[in-house]
Amino acid sequence: MSEQSSAVPIAKISLAEKFAAIDDQWNPRVVGELNGQHVKLVKFIGAFVWHHHEKEDELFMVHRGSFRMEFRDRAVELAPGDILIVPRGVEHRPVAEKEVEVLMFEPATTLNTGNVVNERTVWKPKNL
Ligand code: NI
Repeated sequence: MSEQSSAVPIAKISLAEKFAAIDDQWNPRVVGELNGQHVKLVKFIGAFVWHHHEKEDELFMVHRGSFRMEFRDRAVELAPGDILIVPRGVEHRPVAEKEVEVLMFEPATTLNTGNVVNERTVWKPKNL
């Protein structure tokens, strides 16, 4: 084995374990970072606020449960294993009938509520 040059330890991330440690909703946690991007996990139920991101594309992947990503002209239903990329500038609103577990991948600068600031805004997501 060659010596590691990175200061970051290499360790697997168990989505099951991480999601089990999340006991609230609409509160994304950072579980990894690479190339200026965050890997975030979030649980949610109900409808989020309509918003868009000026400069960031967002990737959503369902781990457990399901949700609907609404756009102004249509909606996309997502099941476990499904991935959806929302391009920058496109208004969207995630809605879940039951609690869903979602992985997000997006630039570290991304604010969860995008161009909107309200009670759901998380300015600095915590590490998990
Ligand atoms: Ni968004």
